[in-house]
Amino acid sequence: MSISNDIRRGVIDHTLDTQTDMALAAAFPAQFLWGAATASYQIEGAIHEGGRGISIWDTFSATPGKTFRGETGAVAADHYHRMPEDVALMAQLGLGAYRFSIAWPRIQPTGTGAVNQQGLDFYDRLVDALLTYGIQPFVTLYHWDLPQALQDQGGWENRDTAQAFADYAEIVAQRLGDRVAGWITHNEPWCAAFLGYGIGVHAPGLKNRQAAIQVGHHLLLSHGLTVPRLRAASKPGTPVGITLNFNPLYPADDRPETQHDLEVADAFSNRWFLDPLYRGSYPDLLFTGMQLNPPEMQEGDMAIIGTPIDFLGVNNYSRTVIRGRDASAPLDSSNIVAPVPGACYTEMGWEIYPQGLTDLLVRLHREYAVPALYVTENGAAFADHWDGQEEIVRDPRRVSYLREHIQAIASALEQGAPLKGYFVWSLIDNFEWAEGYSKRFGIVYIDYASQRRVLKASGKWYADFIAAYKQAHQV
Ligand code: FCB
Repeated sequence: MSISNDIRRGVIDHTLDTQTDMALAAAFPAQFLWGAATASYQIEGAIHEGGRGISIWDTFSATPGKTFRGETGAVAADHYHRMPEDVALMAQLGLGAYRFSIAWPRIQPTGTGAVNQQGLDFYDRLVDALLTYGIQPFVTLYHWDLPQALQDQGGWENRDTAQAFADYAEIVAQRLGDRVAGWITHNEPWCAAFLGYGIGVHAPGLKNRQAAIQVGHHLLLSHGLTVPRLRAASKPGTPVGITLNFNPLYPADDRPETQHDLEVADAFSNRWFLDPLYRGSYPDLLFTGMQLNPPEMQEGDMAIIGTPIDFLGVNNYSRTVIRGRDASAPLDSSNIVAPVPGACYTEMGWEIYPQGLTDLLVRLHREYAVPALYVTENGAAFADHWDGQEEIVRDPRRVSYLREHIQAIASALEQGAPLKGYFVWSLIDNFEWAEGYSKRFGIVYIDYASQRRVLKASGKWYADFIAAYKQAHQV
């Protein structure tokens, strides 16, 4: 039985708190985009099919001890084979936009040179399927699956990778640029640099903080080099942006040590990538605070990095409260993170704090004058259970999380933040990096044994909410 029939027949618990949610939906402007997001390595599987090359996540996840129970993205949600079904699911939910990423090793198996037409064909079919249903494709070019062959030459520590990325991006744009609704060069370069090269919990698993600073610079450089190439190869006016992850920080008290440590943590967590993009320099506190040197740069790099973009993508899940450390303690997150009595947490251990998203969007508007914003990821992992029979997975906490965060963005809009759209992370349960399949973020449940898709109450709520929005705006 299809999900749409279930929705229409009303067999699923009604989750829309009608009056509140109708009023909330009506508070958003016309043309606001409601979407969901995924990433290639987390959902596609089929790692040896369609001419795909090996990525650093294949190598990393196959290395013992790196991921939960040694799980890998080899099969994931089998999206590579089930793409038409997944797009139909999006249409049933009423999504206006879908954010997905392209696996670079499907396009260029070794990262440079020969182009694999089968890889381009797959994403071409995906884009066309989306457009058939009126769903706008938002395409991320790098969501962490670097071709292994490039890692073998230093990966993002090697400046040449920035140029290779721009070449790859142009190849993709030449094929899809006539239909794509928005380009996102990078997803969360902070994670790619720091988690991947600084502390080694993500691919490629290296532990060198100074190298992470250099990697961050090359990621930014690759972004700047790519922006004009994407514009030149796409239909006129196609917006180009980048997605950063943010962690809003709050002081636990008003001691000067707290203020100082909060500013250092802010330079590291929030301004490392933001300042070069919008202010033309790295925050000084980033290097003094971390006791690291600035990256090696060439003349003109900062101008390339600061190439004006059309929007900023914002990923946000939580916040952190900071308490300044004693002078003798090293500046390490374990010494400055304050406990929050009475707080609620998701399965990731991330505090649920919707006000953080409001404050963040308002800050980006006021302090950085960002001309357009999209929330490109927001969502929650909870321990969902499916009994194997019912047509629905009950996830009331995720319903509340989504409602409260959508209320939070409505409040940011009221305060002038130029927000254009919101993408739930994630459309379907998927491979959550080092956490493997143990963390479920989907608004649709995946039964990995059968690959069956089962709607969650949060997916039903989101579909009803989008329908209420359409009704309010008569679209
Ligand atoms: C973000 C990633 C995304 C997903 C969510 C939970 O950092 O961009 O792929 O893993 O976290």
